[in-house]
Order: sequence, then structure tokens, then C-alpha cells
Amino acid sequence: MIRTYRAELLSVSHDSPDAVRHESDGLLAVEDGIVIARGAYADLADSFPEPEVLPGLVVPGFIDAHVHYPQTDSIASHGEQLLDWLDRHIFPAEKAFVDKAHADDVAPFFLDELLRNGTTSALVFPTVHEQSVDALFEAALSRNMRIISGKVLMDLGPDGLNDTVASGRAGTEALIRRWKRRGRLGYAVTPRFALASSDAQLADAGALLAEHPDVLMHTHLSENLHEIAAVATRFADSADYLDVYDRFGLVTARSVFAHGVHLSDRACRRLHQSGAGVAVCPSSNLFLGSGHFDFGQAQRHALRLGLGTDVGAGTTFSMLRTAGLAYQAALAREDRLDPFRALYLATAGSAALLHIEDRVGALEVGQEADFVVLDSAATSLMARRTVNADLATRLFTLQILGDERAIASTYVMGECAYKRTP
Ligand code: GUN
Ligand code: ZN
Repeated sequence: MIRTYRAELLSVSHDSPDAVRHESDGLLAVEDGIVIARGAYADLADSFPEPEVLPGLVVPGFIDAHVHYPQTDSIASHGEQLLDWLDRHIFPAEKAFVDKAHADDVAPFFLDELLRNGTTSALVFPTVHEQSVDALFEAALSRNMRIISGKVLMDLGPDGLNDTVASGRAGTEALIRRWKRRGRLGYAVTPRFALASSDAQLADAGALLAEHPDVLMHTHLSENLHEIAAVATRFADSADYLDVYDRFGLVTARSVFAHGVHLSDRACRRLHQSGAGVAVCPSSNLFLGSGHFDFGQAQRHALRLGLGTDVGAGTTFSMLRTAGLAYQAALAREDRLDPFRALYLATAGSAALLHIEDRVGALEVGQEADFVVLDSAATSLMARRTVNADLATRLFTLQILGDERAIASTYVMGECAYKRTP
């Protein structure tokens, strides 16, 4: 069945953040969830049946490159930087996911919250418990969302939140087997971070990654200065934090590192050489007092970047707001992030980082038709700011003032999955 939509269309190419594609009066044709035509309405109108008119700016569905679903109910936990925040707020909350019924309660709410914010794909941390992944994947399957996740490996975690090298491997392999080629799901080998795993488990994570060529590796890197100092103490003979992962075979083109707020030039060179990339998480970095991502350094080293909310350290599920905070983080280090590049990070950049750029992220012919209808006049202030405004101003306003109120609707494979109530 073919569905056609008439709207203003905007996307940025996977190949280059500078390649902006914009049809002020565009037509999008979707067959069986796949984009089969996109272009100017005037050029395509004759070839397709009468389209549905979408009032707003249509962009590709957002791709959250780093978020923790079990931390949904721990958002806005007061008072500490990373390591104390984990101990005091996060680890106790994650222990509850031993109960599948609890995971089954949180996962659907989490995914609906993504859709309410225009996010259609995500790379997601669950907990150490195998059943936390099942709950997420079951809920993602029923919503037909493109979700990548994998059981957290943390054999040095606190009681009630740890595995062993053997159970970590067994759980990972069982989940890969159970969920392979189902819906739009993908798997990531997920060691929490260097401090939560023994050397033996980090080595086994590297082995799992090598044994499964179609999975990603997802972890945290160089987020917080106290964390980095603890890593340097434990791994005294490593050149830096990235080198710890490298020694265990975890730095590859399929590796996604969250944060990378404090990276040496050596680490950046190695990231570039390996093809690994970074999920930048500005809202989280501000909330936990971790620092500001260095966009200038990343650009000099041509790093592959995506954008993540990192909820529950992140304070919003909105990728619009996260893009606006990325702008502010860049400016804090005297770098400029233009609104089209910020859109790239939230869509095609994250897609490339997650190796799903052939499927989503740019709303090109042949891709899955995941898209969002944005309303740049969602509030009276936004309406005043964008009256007669050019495209860049409307997009920047959406990023600085917008949030879920600016999501008029979200489409998953061409079908409406969320519509804002008037
Ligand atoms: N490093 C290790 N675990 C976590 C986590 O849950 N959140 C963040 N922001 N950093 C981490
Ligand atoms: Zn995180």
C-alpha cells in the first residue's frame, strides 16, 4: 500500500553534515514502510495519488545514540557527580529490574516517551539482568521501533547488580540468539564501563564482539574527572582511558562510546583510526557537572559523532532540547554548532554511528520512513520568534525553545505512532 505525504521536508545526508536537503513544498511517498519517492511536490504530484498534508516541518525520526531505559524513573536525582550518583541513586533503582514485571512496566513507558519526543531509533542501556533486555525488545517489537540494546556486563557491580564472566557471556549469547533478525532490533555487547568489570570480563567482552560481527559495542568513556582518575589508578600501564578498552579488543569500527568529554589527542587519533565513534550527551554532562564536550577537537580529528540524551543523567528525552544544549556546550568552549549540524547529529550522524545509516536517518529513497512533524510555533513565544523567519532560524528556535510540545506527530515506517493532543 502506498501512502503519500505533502509537507516541508528537511534532512542532512549521511555522507556529509554539510549536505542539507530541503523541499519547501515536498512530497514523500511510502510503500510498505519504505520511502519510494521524495522530491518537490510540483515534480511528483502527477505520479502519486492525492497526498495527506502534514502541517509542519518534516525531519527524519530522531536517533538517540545513548540512553538508559531503567533510569527513566530516576531522572532528576539531586546532588552528586557521576560515581556517587551511581551509588546513591542509580544502582538501587536498577536492582529492581531483576523483576520482569517491573521491567515490563518501565519499558513501554520509556518507548512511548521516545515517540512523544520524536525519537524512533535508539541505542539503549538496560540493566545487568537478561530479562530487562527481553522487556525492552518485546515492547520495541510491538511498536516496530529500531532499538539496539544488550545486557549490561558488570561483574564488579554491587550485590544484586552484578554478573560473572560466565553468566555475562551466557546471557549475552542467549539474547543474541533469541532476538536475532526480529523486527528492527539490534544487539550491542554492553560492558557498563571499565570500572564495573574485571579484566577477565573486559577481555571476554572483546571476544564476544569479535565472535559476533553483526553486533555493536556500547560503553562509557572519559565522562568525569573522578572516574578518569580511578581508571588511571586501576589501569596504571594504559596510555589513557580509551587504551584500557583497546587492550581488551573493544575499540573497533562497531564501538560506540558515550561522552568522551575529556579525551587526549592520542585517544582522538585512535578513535579516528579505528572508526569508533562518540555519542555526545550534553544534557547529562551539564547535569552531572562532567564538563563540556570538545567539538573543536572532535572536528580536528574527524571523529564520528552522534547525539544522546543519556537519561537518567540527561534531564530530557527531547533530542531537540539536547541539540540546543549541544549548541550551548560547544559555545562554552568557543565552538559554533550550526542548527543543521545539530540536526545531523540527532539524525544521520547518530544513524552512521549506530551503523543503521542504510536504513534510517536521512529520509532518502530506500530508507525506512521514520519521520517527525515539527511545529516551530508550538508555543506562543516560539510562534513570535519564528514569524517570517528563515529555515535556519526556525530550526534553531526548535532546538533552543522546543521540546515534546513541538512534536506534532511521529511516524514509524510511514504510520502515525504518536499524535500530539490539541
Ligand atoms: N558510567 C557508568 N554507568 C553510567 C551511567 O549509568 N550513566 C552515566 N552517565 N555514566 C555512567
Ligand atoms: Zn550513560
